[in-house]
Amino acid sequence: MTIPNIVLNNGVEIPQVGLGVFQIPDDETQAAVESALEAGYRHIDTAAGYQNEAGVGAALKASGLPESDVFVTTKLRNGEQGFEKTLQAFENSRRELGVDVIDLYLIHWPVPAWGKAADTWKAMEKLYAEGAVRAIGISNFLPDHVEDLMKSVEVTPAVNQFELHPSFQQPGTQAASTKHGIAVEAYAPIGQAQDLSLPAIKEIAAAHGVSEGQVVLRWHLQNGTIIIPKSVTPERIRSNIDLFGFELSPTQMDTITGLDTEERMFPDPQTADFTML
Ligand SMILES: NC(=O)c1ccc[n+]([C@@H]2O[C@H](COP(=O)([O-])OP(=O)(O)OC[C@H]3O[C@@H](n4cnc5c(N)ncnc54)[C@H](OP(=O)(O)O)[C@@H]3O)[C@@H](O)[C@H]2O)c1
Repeated sequence: MTIPNIVLNNGVEIPQVGLGVFQIPDDETQAAVESALEAGYRHIDTAAGYQNEAGVGAALKASGLPESDVFVTTKLRNGEQGFEKTLQAFENSRRELGVDVIDLYLIHWPVPAWGKAADTWKAMEKLYAEGAVRAIGISNFLPDHVEDLMKSVEVTPAVNQFELHPSFQQPGTQAASTKHGIAVEAYAPIGQAQDLSLPAIKEIAAAHGVSEGQVVLRWHLQNGTIIIPKSVTPERIRSNIDLFGFELSPTQMDTITGLDTEERMFPDPQTADFTML
């Protein structure tokens, strides 16, 4: 199974489908990541706040794959924002993951009330200049947060990772990102499985003889979006990258795009200010 790569704005390539590991306990993470690597995934999305970087690292090590074969993303906790703290937090993540170079490092949330994003970004740029990370990016940045950050960046973020699934698509955040050449990465790409029960998705799945999850993930792929579906279930892990044996018609694509209710499942990035994520 060949998963296409998306070329980021600095030339680095990221596999368009990866495994997300949010809410997987550390001691179950190794098994999930091992299942994914066995199924052909070469992209894993974790975060310091998920407290399972060590489990990801253990799976990478056990796989015997060269470090350069697996694209690894991790994220900076809100509580670690600021120039010096970011540099320290990065070292902790790198040690937990057991890698020399992290492929993509993201600011997890903008926390606009704290006003630390620009300083934090300076530290990300330093890590990038040193070659400790291959690409740097942002997560949960709404259009205003992207514009604010863009005023002071030397390196444009490569990626904005935000909540994006049929019932919550954020076209404004997508446009504010792509306008600057920032790639769109969908988190909760199947809406934590809630979007799979929408009747329109069920109909399209039946028409193609595939699962509802495959329909939604295929919709993302045809939109050019990077996706990181999470599962601990080996069968689902396999099916979530088995997306290349069918194609959605333009009408089916439009039907799914028409399902946006503009209701988020996750906290509003304008006000989210927890420290542990
Ligand atoms: N940057 C951020 O702030 C942020 C926020 C949220 C998420 N993320 C990232 O995005 C990743 C994905 O988001 P998410 O974990 O919130 O939600 P998701 O991937 O949309 O959905 C995961 C849920 O769907 C189930 N599932 C997976 N594949 C399925 C399938 N084919 N059919 C039916 N059910 C299926 C999983 O169950 P089982 O595991 O039991 O199989 C799990 O309950 C995270 O793991 C994380 O890496 C980032």
